[in-house]
Amino acid sequence: MGRGVADRRAASRHPALATTGASGPEARVVVLRAANRSLSTVTIYTDLRSAKINDLKMEPCASLLIWEQKTKLQIRLRVHVEITSGNAVAEPWRRVPNAARKVYGNHPAPGTIIDQPEHLTSEANREAFAVLTCRIIEIETLYLGQNLHRRAKFCVDSNWMGSWLAP
Ligand SMILES: Cc1cc2nc3c(=O)[nH]c(=O)nc-3n(C[C@H](O)[C@H](O)[C@H](O)COP(=O)(O)O)c2cc1C
Repeated sequence: MGRGVADRRAASRHPALATTGASGPEARVVVLRAANRSLSTVTIYTDLRSAKINDLKMEPCASLLIWEQKTKLQIRLRVHVEITSGNAVAEPWRRVPNAARKVYGNHPAPGTIIDQPEHLTSEANREAFAVLTCRIIEIETLYLGQNLHRRAKFCVDSNWMGSWLAP
């Protein structure tokens, strides 16, 4: 996961974040912004007005999915997501480059029906900036070998001791 933060070309840079929405499961691609091994967390930035925020307020348990083609590894993370915004995100907001800040100030809000794609204005708006801190509860990996597939599970509850699973 650390590689995903540092290397824009790493597969783990762009995991799919799946949440439980009012109408069922919802998955979308996000960018991994930080990973902290000792806290077992990964961080995502988003717009506070986006649909995933409502999903996560209703159900903070979510899933992150990565397919590492190079290593033939599927990585599934079960996470518990904490949403932070306002003054508490002043520090990460400072680190967002000026040009990228506009992404968090689109008008109208994400998901609103618009007449044309051009009918959108963007102005940096810290009030719309949210940090999703995803605490990892469980990691499941699946390696598709030529002769043998290997599936393993690692849980925070067992101090990250791994168990093999039938693939
Ligand atoms: C390559 C790529 C990276 C993306 N990164 C993010 C991101 O870091 N944060 C985010 O909120 N949306 C990101 N998106 C957009 C989401 O996939 C999604 O369309 C948007 O957040 C709205 O999702 P929602 O309506 O389910 O909340 C990215 C999309 C792509 C294609």
